Amino acid sequence: MAESTIPVSPLADASKGAVNVLCMATADAKCNFQPVRFQRRAVGPNDVLLDMKYCGVCHTDLHSAQGQLAALTGKCYPCVPGHELAGVAVAVGDAVTRVKVGDHVGHTLGGYSDKMVVHERFAVIIPKTYPLECAGPVMCAGVTLFDPLRRYGAGKGTRVAIVGVGGLGQMGIRIAKALGCVVTAITRTAGKADFARECGADEVIVSTDAEQMLRARRARALDLVLNTIPSEHDYSPYTALLSGGGRQIMLGLNTGLIAGMVVNGLCCGRSRVAGSGIGGIEATQAVIDLCDKHGIKPFIKVVPVENLNRVYEELEKCNESGARFVLDIAGSLNEDAFKRCAEAAPPNLGPPAPPLTLSAIIGGICGLLCLCRWC
Ligand SMILES: NC(=O)c1ccc[n+]([C@@H]2O[C@H](COP(=O)([O-])OP(=O)(O)OC[C@H]3O[C@@H](n4cnc5c(N)ncnc54)[C@H](OP(=O)(O)O)[C@@H]3O)[C@@H](O)[C@H]2O)c1
Ligand SMILES: [Zn+2]
Repeated sequence: MAESTIPVSPLADASKGAVNVLCMATADAKCNFQPVRFQRRAVGPNDVLLDMKYCGVCHTDLHSAQGQLAALTGKCYPCVPGHELAGVAVAVGDAVTRVKVGDHVGHTLGGYSDKMVVHERFAVIIPKTYPLECAGPVMCAGVTLFDPLRRYGAGKGTRVAIVGVGGLGQMGIRIAKALGCVVTAITRTAGKADFARECGADEVIVSTDAEQMLRARRARALDLVLNTIPSEHDYSPYTALLSGGGRQIMLGLNTGLIAGMVVNGLCCGRSRVAGSGIGGIEATQAVIDLCDKHGIKPFIKVVPVENLNRVYEELEKCNESGARFVLDIAGSLNEDAFKRCAEAAPPNLGPPAPPLTLSAIIGGICGLLCLCRWC
């Protein structure tokens, strides 16, 4: 068996109950993922030990693994991304009250790994009636869209647009629809129109079609725009579609997200463009319960861990199918994965997008302050 040469931090002391873990890690920004062994902390009195079953692959994983967020988080290699975890509780500490052995549990940090130790406060209970392979994407994509929908009062008849029909966007369409909103999907890919309608969109606008954008601009009918575009772009064409009191919420990880958060803070929560970051545990529990109640399931493609490099290529091309890729951790992250992953070709990624920098963020803040109707 070929062991990975990716270095890891010193192993914890197994004699003190540390948990042996197998994970998928990249040694650098090239994102060539290989299995690596390491140890997690021992299960403490308030902890839950999860046997991981699935982990969704979010576009943020690509941003982190390529070092684009280094200005915010620091560069950290080896990097084990992944924050859409779904597993089964196999042990609980003596003081745990909310979780019992056998529960399905979700979590939002910890990576592509086969075991997870989590304080029970950060354990999200997944209803047993909800398919576990669909649950990971709810932990990030679902709550990231649900939280601003709820915060900005989206409900029956609210006219909501979701920009970008990818992992986040498809969940946004489904959740907004379940909340009773009238939903417009805005995509630059005409071929995604049918998919967007299958997700529940009442209308689809192809953003590369000037006529369609002009019509929507004249109507100025939208109350809320949730923008999931991952890269730097001009977001003013979407602000122009808003009704008088409407808002655009930046969700994609670009300068607009940070600038929107800062400007909204400066404007006491009243700016026309704001940013929003994922959601807390309460919101995550609420959205998984909502998804279970309404039968909201993401369109997913379950893949073995040796396909991770291919998934990264797909996300870099900006997810042409709109699916959320989900790693089959239980079915493929095992001893045999060393060989299968060593045989997988490294990903063929273009040069990483420029990292988020402080100066770009300050530029974004100034731009938004000029745009901001309130200021
Ligand atoms: N705020 C948060 O807390 C949070 C949480 C999770 C993720 N994120 C961020 O949200 C972004 C989306 O994540 P995801 O997992 O949904 O990604 P994804 O699955 O790759 O989907 C992104 C979609 O955006 C559209 N798009 C991509 N590049 C574009 C461009 N240059 N111009 C216009 N549209 C473009 C594409 O949709 P169309 O083909 O339909 O145009 C694409 O499918 C990422 O930046 C991710 O890091 C933020
Ligand atoms: Zn995410």
